[in-house]
Amino acid sequence: MSAAPSYAQDGTMAHLPPLIDCHVHFREPGLEHKGDIASESTAAYYGGISAACDMPNTAPPTQSIAALADKVARATATAHADCRLFFFFGATAEEHLKELEELWTNPTHADLKQHCCGLKLYLDNSTGNMKSSVAVTEKAFELCGRLQIVLVAHCEQSQINDAAAAQHPYDGPASHSLRRPAESEAASVQEAIAFARQHRTPLHLAHVSTAQSLDAVRETRLADPTLPLTCEVTPHHLFLTTEDYSCCGARVKVNPPVRLPQHHEALWAGLLDGTVDCVGTDHAPHTLDEKNTAGQPPSGMPAIEVVVPLLLTVVAGRWPHPTAPRPTALVEAAQRGRTLRMEDIVRVLHTNPNRIFHLGEPSAPHRSFDLSCAWTVVGTELHSKCRWTPYEGWQLLGRAVSH
Ligand code: NCD
Ligand code: ZN
Ligand code: ZN
Repeated sequence: MSAAPSYAQDGTMAHLPPLIDCHVHFREPGLEHKGDIASESTAAYYGGISAACDMPNTAPPTQSIAALADKVARATATAHADCRLFFFFGATAEEHLKELEELWTNPTHADLKQHCCGLKLYLDNSTGNMKSSVAVTEKAFELCGRLQIVLVAHCEQSQINDAAAAQHPYDGPASHSLRRPAESEAASVQEAIAFARQHRTPLHLAHVSTAQSLDAVRETRLADPTLPLTCEVTPHHLFLTTEDYSCCGARVKVNPPVRLPQHHEALWAGLLDGTVDCVGTDHAPHTLDEKNTAGQPPSGMPAIEVVVPLLLTVVAGRWPHPTAPRPTALVEAAQRGRTLRMEDIVRVLHTNPNRIFHLGEPSAPHRSFDLSCAWTVVGTELHSKCRWTPYEGWQLLGRAVSH
């Protein structure tokens, strides 16, 4: 552990090292009606996020060196000057893994490789339908173990999801949580960890949403302490539950789904006890028209502009959800003297993602946050192209200072 101060504070101003969102979908190329690199990196800037790792489920997907080079060129041309972008490679076929191996091992690509933060695998379909077969999954863990590439896994198990979906026909957004149950994520997490242990793969579990997933991380760390196993939680799983379908419907439909309050409690406990390494937003803009469709709306929601203010509000001792009670995990931790602190924000949004994804961001304070800024979230005033938010009307305390 480094003893260096992680942030500076004078009065109500906090100065933080570059905050990193290790899970975003900026939608370019191909899905620019939802968002693009310029709009979403601007939202990041106003949210106080200085670097973001973009996922490969674009159109075309980032599954070749050429597709990666195209994204890097687009980011160089249009990203907000104060938001650095990194890109995950994707793979649904063996030829994509060959491209990744070429990127990693051929010195010709050394510059491009600097912009690639790892491989993203979808173990079940999500937006973009990039589910990886068992054969490709096993080869991906082997390759990433051999070359020590960080493998980020979207863990849900398709057999369990398919069976649950057959049992619970789609019947509005709330049915989504029944159709993609907690056991599905838990089973997939176990499978991913088993592959990682076999191939010594650096494994990062994306958007974990269940108590069982965090228990699996704890157990594996005890059983196999040298395995580089890390995990992230999203703001929506920290601040929203199945109770929020009643107010927000399709806007809170996401993969993995929002969960029952017991999982929400476990995520807060895991954030405070250090089991959770990163908060990644899974910033996934869709248009309101898409969300309001009469059929099944797409999964995902935006968050990059509000994640830091949400956490700063908790650091300030307030619980921002307008109707749900403060999680018992937070109340009980506070009784033991453990509250969410500024150091936790730096840990989950700077130190850990910077280390896990080898981003080389400087650790000196860089961005200022006004901790006394009280504001109300209004979707149309945010900068994501989609112009809506699941946190509409929430009152937050703390905001990045922008110029
Ligand atoms: C993401 C998207 O829309 O790209 N959707 C989601 O529900 N989380 C894809 C993903 O992260 O699985
Ligand atoms: Zn995902
Ligand atoms: Zn995602």
